[in-house]
Amino acid sequence: MRTIEMHVARGVVKMIDQRRLPRQFEIVECHDYRAVAHAIKDMTIRGAPAIGAAAAFGLALAARESRAATRDELLRDLDAAAKELRATRPTAVNLGWALDRVMKQARGANLDANGLRDLVVAAAQRIADEDVEINQAMARHGAALIDDGDMVLTHCNAGALATVDVGTALGVIIEAHKQGKKIHVFVDETRPRLQGARLTAWELTQAGVPMTLIADNASGYYMRAGKIQKCFVGSDRVAANGDVANKIGTYKTAVVAHENNIPFYAVMPTSTIDMSLPHGDAIPIEERDAREVTHIEGVPIAPDGVRVGNPAFDVTPNKYITALGTERGIVRPPFVENLKRIMIP
Ligand code: MRU
Repeated sequence: MRTIEMHVARGVVKMIDQRRLPRQFEIVECHDYRAVAHAIKDMTIRGAPAIGAAAAFGLALAARESRAATRDELLRDLDAAAKELRATRPTAVNLGWALDRVMKQARGANLDANGLRDLVVAAAQRIADEDVEINQAMARHGAALIDDGDMVLTHCNAGALATVDVGTALGVIIEAHKQGKKIHVFVDETRPRLQGARLTAWELTQAGVPMTLIADNASGYYMRAGKIQKCFVGSDRVAANGDVANKIGTYKTAVVAHENNIPFYAVMPTSTIDMSLPHGDAIPIEERDAREVTHIEGVPIAPDGVRVGNPAFDVTPNKYITALGTERGIVRPPFVENLKRIMIP
């Protein structure tokens, strides 16, 4: 199944529970938009494009739940749901992008309440379907960056699970493997939530791609030893100058890659590019619960009451980014000019 799907007849949104993988493959069913908001917050579903689709499906549930009899009443209920969904996670711009897109279509339509309900469901479904097509296009463009024999590094999970299907950076890597290129993937475990160890390692194993799981701290060792030729990561938000916000640890990895003359690619749909922000310092960075750092799989590893910092993302300045991979092609520096060009509607 896809990472997230809506069963319209049953009025239910189903998603793969990413907190349990790889040990358990379970499906969570959300019957109202609040359950979707909760699932985004607690990372039952995570990854920028996936939470964008989840937010849109949340609005679709809100439209069906609402008892509004008129168009205006329904729009008010949808606005309230969008506000709650938007507040779940601040960094990935796809979330707000998806909500704004659905709400714009709803406001622009001259329909009664029931017509509007159908429109919102269809708009959410379209976001999910488009995400799959966009990722396929990105995978095709990006795979050209990988040569036969390359050993590549990836951080966090930018695979099918982080999207509706296919993935961003991992989609590129898996596509290169499907094309018959002999590649090997080094997978950062990605503390604190271990998306690399739990999700990326699982996806690559399923796809039959040769891989080695490493502790985050080991990537510099492998880069300096000449074992890594390229790095591929996803992104949660790209500023207009090409600065990239992605999972915590990406910045450090990019700096070490630069020091070792290793190309560093970030792959994302254009819905992740936020042209309203001039640079990465303007990107809001989510701070998550201290327990993610003090505990591993529920087991405490630090002294009780210790002070903790837990930023979920960091920003990699554009000077460390070799190119950005999008569904519209590969974007190289100068990013200010070239992003402007590809973002023209
Ligand atoms: O906290 P997460 O797991 O939602 O963070 C995910 C990432 O940082 C991914 O690299 C990013 O969303 C891009 S993946 C398509």
